[in-house]
Amino acid sequence: MKIPERLYPLLENGLVQEVVRPLMSGKEAAVYIVIAEGRYCVAKVYKEAIHRSFRQRADYTEGRMVRNSRQRRAMEKGSKYGREQAEAAWQTAEVDALYKLAAAGVRVPKPLVFSEGVLLMELLLDAEDQPAPRLCDCAFTPEQAWNSHGFVMHQAQLMLCAGLVHGDLSEYNVLLSAQGPVIIDLPQAIDAAGNRNARTILLRDVGAITGFLGRFCPPLLESRFGEEMWGLYERAELHPDTQLTGRWRGSSRKADVRGVQREIQAAARDARPRRH
Ligand SMILES: Nc1ncnc2c1ncn2[C@@H]1O[C@H](COP(=O)(O)OP(=O)(O)OP(=O)(O)O)[C@@H](O)[C@H]1O
Ligand SMILES: [Mg+2]
Repeated sequence: MKIPERLYPLLENGLVQEVVRPLMSGKEAAVYIVIAEGRYCVAKVYKEAIHRSFRQRADYTEGRMVRNSRQRRAMEKGSKYGREQAEAAWQTAEVDALYKLAAAGVRVPKPLVFSEGVLLMELLLDAEDQPAPRLCDCAFTPEQAWNSHGFVMHQAQLMLCAGLVHGDLSEYNVLLSAQGPVIIDLPQAIDAAGNRNARTILLRDVGAITGFLGRFCPPLLESRFGEEMWGLYERAELHPDTQLTGRWRGSSRKADVRGVQREIQAAARDARPRRH
C-alpha cells in the first residue's frame, strides 16, 4: 500500500500510529483507516484543488466567512497567495462544519483533529463492526425507507437551524451506522443566510435523498420537505423541534425549476466515489 505523502507528518509526530488500509478514494479526498489514539479512525486526506470538482465553485463558497479583507481580496483576485488561502479555507471548512453540527445535535462523525491537510475522525461502523455502508449500498423495506427519510430530513432541519446547508447531500454521503444514518462529507457546506443559492441547493439536497429513498417507498416522492423547511427558515419559524409535515402549500413565488435542474446536472457531472 502506498501511503500518501500528507500522512507522513502525522505518522512522524505520533498523531497517527499506523495506516491500516485505504477505504475509499473519491474526487475530493482519499480516505484511509488508521490507528490514532490507540483506536481505529478515519483519515481523510484532501486532494489538491486542481483535482477537485464542482463543489468549489463560487456559488458554493459565496457568503463564507474569511479571516480578513486582505484574504478575501486575494481570494477574489486568484493570486498565488489567494489560491493558498482559498485552499486552506476549503480544507478547514469540513472540520469547522463537523464541530458546529455536532454541537447542534446533527449526527456526524466525531472529529479528532485536523492537521496538515488531513482530517482525523471517528470510524463509523455497522452492526458487524465493519466500516458503515453508504445508503446507496443498502436496500430498504418501505418502512425502513420512510423512517430513514424522516431521520435525514430532521438532520437537514437541524443543519438549517445551525445556519448550514450540506451542499452535497445524497445517498453517497449518508452512512448507515449501527446507530442509524450519519451525515458525512461537508467541505462544501453552505452558509444558509449568506449564500443566494442556498434555497436551490437545499432543494437539491433534499430531492436527492427523497429520490433515492422514494424508490423503496414511493409515497415519499410526493413530499416537499425542502420547500417546507426553507419557507419556515425564511420566516424565522424553523426550530430544532418544529414538526415538519412534508406538505407545502406553495407560495406566490414561482418554483426555481431551472435552477434545481442546473444543480442536478452539475452534480451528475461529478463522478461518483469508487470503493477500493
Ligand atoms: N467517518 C467515516 N467512517 C466510515 N467511513 C467513512 C467515513 N468518512 C468517509 N468514509 C468513507 O469514505 C468515503 C468517502 O468519504 P467522503 O464522502 O467524505 O469523501 P469525498 O472524497 O469528499 O467524497 P466524494 O467521493 O463524494 O467526492 C465515504 O463514502 C465512506 O464510504
Ligand atoms: Mg462523498
